Amino acid sequence: MVSLHVDTDTGSDDAVALLLAALDDRVRLESVSTVAGNVPLDLATRNALLTLELAGAADVPVHPGCDRPLVRPLSTAQQVHGADGMGDLDLPDPRGRARGEHAVDVLLGTARADLTLVTLGPLTNVAAALVRDRDLLNRYAHVYCMIGAPDAVGNITATAEFNAWADPEATAIVAAAAEPGQVTWIGWDVSRLDAVITREEHEHLLALGPIAEFAGRINRTVADWAVEVTGLAGYDLPDPVAMAVALRPELATETEHASVRVALGDELRGQTSVDRRRIAPPPNLTLVRRVDEPAFKRFLFDTLETR
Ligand code: BDR
Ligand code: CA
Repeated sequence: MVSLHVDTDTGSDDAVALLLAALDDRVRLESVSTVAGNVPLDLATRNALLTLELAGAADVPVHPGCDRPLVRPLSTAQQVHGADGMGDLDLPDPRGRARGEHAVDVLLGTARADLTLVTLGPLTNVAAALVRDRDLLNRYAHVYCMIGAPDAVGNITATAEFNAWADPEATAIVAAAAEPGQVTWIGWDVSRLDAVITREEHEHLLALGPIAEFAGRINRTVADWAVEVTGLAGYDLPDPVAMAVALRPELATETEHASVRVALGDELRGQTSVDRRRIAPPPNLTLVRRVDEPAFKRFLFDTLETR
């Protein structure tokens, strides 16, 4: 049984990842925190609450966190995920409410050796917590982050992935505090290569029952954007891939201990590059480079299927 805390800027693919965590019978989803990213903080919180209710996990506490990056203004990805972050389907409001305790306090207060942390958005909450406890990442069983584009093929800019770009200072703080074996990054490259949902797979997903249908429909605007802007043969699912690796580490077929740097200058903002020189600083991160595509999709469909 894996015990989990998830930090998320809940847009449409975060919601699918939350569904995986909430529905997997090998997981105890203990708590969720939200951060501004795909959408402003209030929408991220709303979407997390709504998704957990749909999954029958309304009792999982949701804690709002930072409403903007550490030093930059907030730039959302509503052009990708829809104005509401969930494909603009006119979804109902959640019945439950968020908890009062701030996400940063929750991260600091709940970290423990048998709890896994999964982050699906900008790393603002985690970086803010690291300022108060430099050892935070080592207090978890493991930390998995959906972040980065180590081969410099970006989605928000030519070379940067959205979460790394949205709060690059936070990304750099986490990278500086990380150690391989303790912190794993799953970049956008993995979903681009191994987790594109084709039109046929999308139709299959829609037919697997109401939860799977919700998961497919909320990614409506992402699907248009992925084909038009990134040239994929369908839509990618970065956050579900990261969640799947956290829940089933054996899905990762290629990993690398890497010395990763985060660019903070305006031109290359958020670019995460791997230093492969022999004089590079020691590795700070484990990067997942490939996952088993059929096994990932099986896990996705099987978990979302309403039995
Ligand atoms: C990441 O950015 C967001 O658009 C997605 O939710 C995912 O976390 C992919 O680059
Ligand atoms: Ca996300």
